[in-house]
Amino acid sequence: MNKRYDSIRPAMAAVAVIIMLSCAVSAAAEQPAFPFFPSQARTASGKPVKHTDYESPEICSGCHTDIHAQWKGSMHGAAFIDPIFQALWKLGEKETNGLTNNLCGGCHGAVGVLSNELTFKDGEFHAPDIAREGVHCDLCHTITTSSFADTPNYEPGNASFVVAPGSVKRGPHADAESPYHETAYSKLHTSSLFCANCHQVFHPVNNFHIERTYDEWKYSVYARNGIQCQDCHMMPVAKAAETARTLKKQKNPGQSAPMGPVRDNIFTHEFVGGNFTVTEILGNKEHAEAARQRLRSAAELSVDTASSVTSGAMASITVTVTNVGAGHNLPTSLTEVRQMWLDVKIADAAGKEIFRSGSLDPKGDIVNDPRIFNAHALDKDGRDTLKPWEIASFKYNKTIPPKGSAIENFYFLVPADATGALKASVILRYRSYPQALANALLGEKSFTLPVFNMAEKEISIPVKR
Ligand code: HEC
Ligand code: HEC
Ligand code: HEC
Ligand code: HEC
Ligand code: HEC
Repeated sequence: MNKRYDSIRPAMAAVAVIIMLSCAVSAAAEQPAFPFFPSQARTASGKPVKHTDYESPEICSGCHTDIHAQWKGSMHGAAFIDPIFQALWKLGEKETNGLTNNLCGGCHGAVGVLSNELTFKDGEFHAPDIAREGVHCDLCHTITTSSFADTPNYEPGNASFVVAPGSVKRGPHADAESPYHETAYSKLHTSSLFCANCHQVFHPVNNFHIERTYDEWKYSVYARNGIQCQDCHMMPVAKAAETARTLKKQKNPGQSAPMGPVRDNIFTHEFVGGNFTVTEILGNKEHAEAARQRLRSAAELSVDTASSVTSGAMASITVTVTNVGAGHNLPTSLTEVRQMWLDVKIADAAGKEIFRSGSLDPKGDIVNDPRIFNAHALDKDGRDTLKPWEIASFKYNKTIPPKGSAIENFYFLVPADATGALKASVILRYRSYPQALANALLGEKSFTLPVFNMAEKEISIPVKR
């Protein structure tokens, strides 16, 4: 060995040791970071929970009777058993060899993941009863923090919460006293960050945003005015609509338990969104009706045209859809799946249709150059996909930002023999999924998806000859 190099050998060895050590350290640091990976859920103890650490919602209902009744029919209560979710979850299990089990389970049935008791056998997911209660009282009220600062993208999401199940129930009132459990004030529970841990979904491999309701809210006029998710989704729908209109929080006086004080504001627990389909399937009619009311409060339509049009010539109408009521984009979250679109019909004075866009064909597809306000998801090879585990990018995102508008023009030929006035009828329609997706997921049990009219407008267009 050449003498010249001898002198640097110890130094090289030291470098090698440092490199090995730092690898070991970073491996050690990475291992326990998210023990239920790809879910980012964590326990305060660092060890899995026992499912018996959690109390059943039935126990809470003994005193928090109204809150329990509100929650029971909510999509939080149905998050695990939701048939549409179950069908897609099972498909994910098959196509990813189980990699998505904990990812999806961490938000839709966290206790099964946190206790390592979620299993898949004979074509079904199995988990303790308390996990099947979905997003339930004791899960939410024993969350202590968000670990968003430790996530790869420094964003809340993929269940980035920390749990400490036990006798301490965390809530918004520092002076709350219960004969049954301890209480602790939690600022987290009063802020959108609490919801963000579950209402943001990232692809765990490429960290691409698949659902980003919290981000949409964070840069909105609502966030700037201190209006949180809770101020709309934990309030009766009419009060939430007033909050959206005035940008001032409304109050909802009441008692959270009969032996507690009457407070000038308590939060309701229906967590109403836009899902009137699954709530209806599961028999929760009041929740379905509230979802329809919420959808009606979300958007406004205006229709404009020239003061008159000429027979035999091309003409157009302009439709503006404004998101007046949603604290995030409209629609939000599963933007590649939800369908909000314009159904436009123009008829002559005798009622004969001369133009149509956005009608449903017999298969239930939306046809005639439809204007759908959704996002178009692609997989890594640029092919269309509706499977969350495949989504690598969006080709476009046409959802409407909070207080923002979308403008669509429709061109049509005025018939040469038209007289009097034409009538343009515009309807903003919503359904939770494309019919083809529902058919594929529910198979034999498939049914015609209900469609709800969020807003409608009619104008009359005088014809010049
Ligand atoms: C024996 C009756 C009783 C039972 C059972 C009960 N609670 Fe309570 N709880 C109360 C009372 C009373 C309060 C205080 C209400 C107040 O001050 O407004 C309270 C307060 C709370 C708070 C604090 C709310 C705040 O205003 O900050 C939370 C959270 C809570 N309960 C959750 C639960 C959960 C979860 C369960 C079931 C695991 C449960 N409770 C079971 C009676 C009960
Ligand atoms: C998705 C999570 C979540 C679930 C599920 C949930 N809560 Fe809450 N709860 C909250 C949040 C967040 C607040 C506080 C809202 C605020 O102050 O902005 C709250 C408030 C409360 C309060 C304080 C009084 C009030 O209404 O403001 C009580 C008591 C309570 N919840 C009990 C329950 C019970 C009982 C259940 C089950 C039947 C339940 N919660 C289910 C998140 C949840
Ligand atoms: C970060 C938490 C989170 C993760 C992880 C997650 N989801 Fe969800 N999921 C949600 C939330 C929140 C909604 C409700 C959004 C809405 O209704 O607009 C939802 C809604 C859904 C729905 C629509 C249900 C309906 O009835 O319309 C399906 C289907 C679904 N998720 C499937 C999955 C699958 C499959 C996975 C795993 C690949 C998954 N989710 C992972 C939070 C999550
Ligand atoms: C532990 C995870 C978790 C937390 C925390 C959570 N959610 Fe959810 N939420 C879900 C999941 C999962 C669904 C979807 C269930 C489904 O559609 O199958 C959902 C559904 C909803 C829906 C119904 C959507 C629809 O399509 O109708 C609303 C509204 C909602 N959440 C609001 C909130 C708000 C507001 C908060 C914060 C106070 C919150 N959530 C906190 C997991 C969570
Ligand atoms: C100003 C009131 C307001 C605020 C603030 C608000 N929302 Fe909404 N949200 C609505 C309205 C209205 C709808 C129904 C229209 C729609 O589906 O987007 C809705 C719908 C939803 C849905 C169902 C979406 C779908 O079509 O499947 C979810 C999930 C949701 N909100 C979660 C949240 C979360 C999480 C936050 C906070 C980050 C939040 N919302 C803040 C008003 C609000």
